[in-house]
Amino acid sequence: MTKTVLITGAGKGLGRALALEFARKGYRLVLVSKTHADLKITAAIARKSGAHADYYLVDVTKLDDVERLKRTLSKKKLVIDLLINNAGIGFFGEIKSTDISKISSMMSVNYLGGVYFTKVFLNDLISRKGTLAFINTVAGKILVPKFGAYCPSKAALDFFGRALAKELKGKVKVVNVYPGPLKTGFWKDKSFSQLRRKFFFNEPAAVAGRITESIIKGRGTVVVPGWLNLLLLANVASNDFVYWLFKKIYKI
Ligand SMILES: NC(=O)c1ccc[n+]([C@@H]2O[C@H](COP(=O)([O-])OP(=O)(O)OC[C@H]3O[C@@H](n4cnc5c(N)ncnc54)[C@H](OP(=O)(O)O)[C@@H]3O)[C@@H](O)[C@H]2O)c1
Repeated sequence: MTKTVLITGAGKGLGRALALEFARKGYRLVLVSKTHADLKITAAIARKSGAHADYYLVDVTKLDDVERLKRTLSKKKLVIDLLINNAGIGFFGEIKSTDISKISSMMSVNYLGGVYFTKVFLNDLISRKGTLAFINTVAGKILVPKFGAYCPSKAALDFFGRALAKELKGKVKVVNVYPGPLKTGFWKDKSFSQLRRKFFFNEPAAVAGRITESIIKGRGTVVVPGWLNLLLLANVASNDFVYWLFKKIYKI
């Protein structure tokens, strides 16, 4: 039977790259973001590889929107086998100079968005013995200079995802994914203008294959690229050292 994957933030960036990987593997796609033009392109490319792709305008921070999507899918008798909580936003800068509205929107999109989708679609996933994935970031594990407002939104998602992995053991596979920097629209805000030149970026398509395989296999934790595991280990030994290293290398 064809499996259905729901991907949030599927209009561009990593979400689009994941959608195209799942399309090539024969999954039915339910694509979500706020921008119609972006979703239309993702769905059109996915359909070229033979996939059935539907898309919906949903703001992940609005529980009403998420519940409406659930009702729409139920009317179509569509049950979700895999949920990928990918939608996310970021801003750069010291906490003192970051507007409260930006801090609050990162918490809403990056954390609450994942919470709402998980709560609304969890019964689907349990009934299908399905898979729940969270696209986190290494910055959800490591305190990075001038990411002091972004890191907590992903650290909250990290705890949520790890808690679910324990609570749902044997019922739903939970996969927490921690990518390093990717060349996407994530960095478009002007707060990133200095930093953008300094980080080493992977193309989303270059990591999407490995992430997709890991989600399908239900691997609990995925760090991409793999060498970032060394940085995570160093961070366990001393966040002060890793924090200092970031400041030194990236002059931030
Ligand atoms: N880029 C990186 O370096 C990097 C590294 C590690 C982890 N990540 C994580 O990877 C995930 C994908 O980011 P990306 O790099 O692919 O960024 P991106 O290119 O900016 O794509 C983000 C996607 O999320 C959607 N989105 C944002 N707010 C939303 C909302 N309120 N409701 C619904 N959809 C919303 C966007 O749609 P709209 O434009 O329609 O809002 C867009 O489709 C994020 O969780 C990010 O934190 C990124």
